Amino acid sequence: MLRNLILAVANRPFVRRIATGGVGRRVALRFVAGEDIEDALKVVKILNERGMSASLDYLGENVHDATAAQAAADTYRSAIERVEASGLQANLSVKLTQMGLDLDPEVAIGNAAVVAARAAEADGTVTLDMEDHRYTDPTIDTCLRLSHSYPGRLGVAIQAYLFRTEKDLERLMEARVQVRLCKGAYREPSKIAYHRKIDVDAAYARLLVRLVSSEAYPMIATHDERLIRFAKEQVAKIGRDRDTFEFQLLYGVRRDLQDQLVREGYRVRVYVPFGTEWYPYFMRRIAERPANVKFFLRQLVSR
Ligand code: FDA
Repeated sequence: MLRNLILAVANRPFVRRIATGGVGRRVALRFVAGEDIEDALKVVKILNERGMSASLDYLGENVHDATAAQAAADTYRSAIERVEASGLQANLSVKLTQMGLDLDPEVAIGNAAVVAARAAEADGTVTLDMEDHRYTDPTIDTCLRLSHSYPGRLGVAIQAYLFRTEKDLERLMEARVQVRLCKGAYREPSKIAYHRKIDVDAAYARLLVRLVSSEAYPMIATHDERLIRFAKEQVAKIGRDRDTFEFQLLYGVRRDLQDQLVREGYRVRVYVPFGTEWYPYFMRRIAERPANVKFFLRQLVSR
């Protein structure tokens, strides 16, 4: 599978060198708002004017230094303050490995709690991104733990490609946290995850039916038009109000679909990454779609 191959070679030094050069940077900017918060806020403003909200992701993962993890939490805190002061509509998406999970789970929870507390003060919310399977348990546990202290403020992403997700979803729905349902973007072993698109899509559809019929707040994160149509049919069938769930899409992906959903009267939130540590995020976006690989290679050879 092309995706697994790209993710497998992404950390080879020569691939990294090529992909982070001038061309890589230019292509990455299609998926990343920019390197600092000013760039991100400009994008959020434009999205708000287009009728959609945003989720700010300060790029960074697998941080192995307590000072850097705390600095990331501080950046999130100041991002909330900037959003609040400018009256923009944006919440936060946070990776626990950026908060120090590899270092010490308690450090990560402490940093995430600081972000959640500030978000709650500003009447905002925080969604924990889901990383690879080594982090599934701590991410779900942290979400549930923080949601006790900050009820209504926490959400977490779950990945349809993992066999375990059905059970995780039940726990999360019971706790009534916000649930972002995505397909999953990492390279996972076949003993724990579906690899064929047909199986991942079928799992997504099953989880979606369960999620939209619950009292949790569903965040339907996909650009897959068949699944989006299916989601619309499901919510219409059960008569769920349009202000009780949202569609989420990534910055730089299917802008036409983002606008169409707004025109149709759905809540739409766009995930807006910013920061200098864009490489792993960018490689996941490249790996998701063969056309992106071709586009990137074409840009490289036409230099
Ligand atoms: P699929 O891959 O089948 O794509 C459907 C169509 O969407 C494609 O045909 C193409 O038109 C378009 N498309 C999809 N990806 C594209 C790309 N990179 N470039 C251009 N077009 C593209 N994953 C994870 O593991 N943990 C997480 O926390 C999150 N968080 C998250 C938040 C939000 C808001 C979104 C939308 C997605 C995530 N993801 C994620 C990523 C997710 O798991 C998945 O990898 C991507 O969304 C791609 O899958 P689709 O559902 O879009 O379907």
